[in-house]
Amino acid sequence: AGGASAPAPSLGFKAIPVSAADSVVVPEGYRVSAILPWGTPISGDMPAFSLDASGEAQGHQVGSHHDGVHFFPLEGSSRDGLLVMNHEYVEPRFLHAAAAGLALDRNGFPQNADGSRDDDQVLKELNAHGVSVVRIREDGSGQWQVVEDARNRRITGLTPMRLAGPVAGTEHVVTKYSPDGTMTRGTLNNCAHGVTPWNTYLAAEENWAGYFANADAEIDRRQARYGIQTRDTGRYQWHRAASGADQYVRFDASSRGASPTEDYRNEPHAFGWMVEIDPMDPAATPVKRTHLGRFAHEGVIFAPAEEGQPVVAYSGDDARFEYIYKFVSARPYHVATADGSLLDEGTLYVARFHEDGRGEWLALAPGENGLTPENGFADLADILVNTRAAADQAGATRMDRPEWGAVDPATGQVYFTLTNNTRREAGDEDAANPRAENHFGHIIRWQEESSHAGTRFAWDLFVLAGDGDDSRDLAGEPLGQEAIFASPDGLWIDADRRVWIQTDISESVMNTGIFEVFGNNQMLAANPETGEIRRFLTGPVGQEITGVVTTPDQRTMFVNVQHPGATTSAEAFAAGELLSHWPDGGSAIPRSATLVITREDGGIIGA
Ligand code: FEO
Ligand code: CA
Ligand code: CA
Ligand code: CA
Repeated sequence: AGGASAPAPSLGFKAIPVSAADSVVVPEGYRVSAILPWGTPISGDMPAFSLDASGEAQGHQVGSHHDGVHFFPLEGSSRDGLLVMNHEYVEPRFLHAAAAGLALDRNGFPQNADGSRDDDQVLKELNAHGVSVVRIREDGSGQWQVVEDARNRRITGLTPMRLAGPVAGTEHVVTKYSPDGTMTRGTLNNCAHGVTPWNTYLAAEENWAGYFANADAEIDRRQARYGIQTRDTGRYQWHRAASGADQYVRFDASSRGASPTEDYRNEPHAFGWMVEIDPMDPAATPVKRTHLGRFAHEGVIFAPAEEGQPVVAYSGDDARFEYIYKFVSARPYHVATADGSLLDEGTLYVARFHEDGRGEWLALAPGENGLTPENGFADLADILVNTRAAADQAGATRMDRPEWGAVDPATGQVYFTLTNNTRREAGDEDAANPRAENHFGHIIRWQEESSHAGTRFAWDLFVLAGDGDDSRDLAGEPLGQEAIFASPDGLWIDADRRVWIQTDISESVMNTGIFEVFGNNQMLAANPETGEIRRFLTGPVGQEITGVVTTPDQRTMFVNVQHPGATTSAEAFAAGELLSHWPDGGSAIPRSATLVITREDGGIIGA
């Protein structure tokens, strides 16, 4: 992707070493504190955090497992704004203090003696998922406080949502709850996010398939291609809630009624989308934008909007051998009128990376790239609800788990993290995914040939992550000790072009074997021109670092810490030995939380 170049950003901090400590470390001259841990009250009657808070209380508190995050300034302020963040999933061991007397199922969730689940626990789990909108303000002494505000809001696994775009109103999404296929309830497994050019927030639905059970003998590609199989695959078992309430039963997608309006056989088809939320309007119903495709959406990144040009958004499907997509709107962007309806008409494309460093975008549209009725694709809604199968048919490049993307504001280059793929076998490598048994991941980037809306691009590999000779930086050298990392996941490019890289080494291998040298998950900053990388932050034990944004003045940075202590084994947990007590310390259970990072001299973060 050579050619594009612009002034390089400074990396003005001294790199820190790797760490295996249960603390957050930032460079000399920086300060860090934690706010908004799981359970912080934000709305309603502001129920105080307590380990045995009810499911209803959880619906007024910050959710669990913080992930993608954005700061929406109020009147342009860098001291007062709405922080909007995703809550990807829950840790049942820490969520249910009152469950001590109940047996745990195979996934660690409490269950009753008859195999049913306690309704309030199910409600609490659903309410700990989703999105938080919370006003925070700097109080003049450097501390950020929650401000009670009408816009503070929890969006959860139960919030009513509208379906929009080509799949809305089709037979694919007809349910007992919505016989006309226009509505659904809740969003789940919200990993990363996106911010639209019209200043709304998009939450991605990533590993939603794991929430559903289906006992039907045959399951079609709308579910099977996404991991719902002909057995009881649901991890959470919400459909087993003792009450049998409709809002829980819907997670069983088996065909039990006489028709789709009598059961929830189509409920999984209302998941796997990008969900648009207007943080400024607490009454606005979230909208699932189906033209952006249905897959394990990691997040979405918009190209800078240009007046009179189409809106373009890139999104990765985080699973082994899945794809990178982009949506190009049919209607042009006009700043005065732009809104979410721009995402309802256009073309979804999938990427093919050629061996020679060139690439092309393949349209996933009726009649294009083999997407015909003869090949099993009836119409646009059928293509979109089966995005993965359509991309297979089109012949896209199977990637090593595409995670976050980012766009360089100066050159327009698009970066994507590819976190790892240990199932890529020798002989199955390609130029864009060059390593078999890819333990450590890499970052790819490309430059569109004409514009973001075009169909041809040139790509290169920005870095192969890893340690020593396993790794390769932009100059072709192994990464130094100040730069080694593995499993890149979160990615963000700031206004000065610093490329912020966040890691998510799985808790199953973190700090063991070949991963020991990397320590705890971390965040680094890179120079997009030289490829230099420096470690900026290390997190506590057992977590991943994910989600990063600054205030408009770039002098306060927010970073999320997800699932601290997740490396605690079942045996250690049973014995009361937690590997992390972050952020509260002492003997506290670990909680996901948001870091606030500033410089002692008040300067720009990273400069
Ligand atoms: Fe939720 Fe792909 O990370
Ligand atoms: Ca992620
Ligand atoms: Ca993770
Ligand atoms: Ca990840």
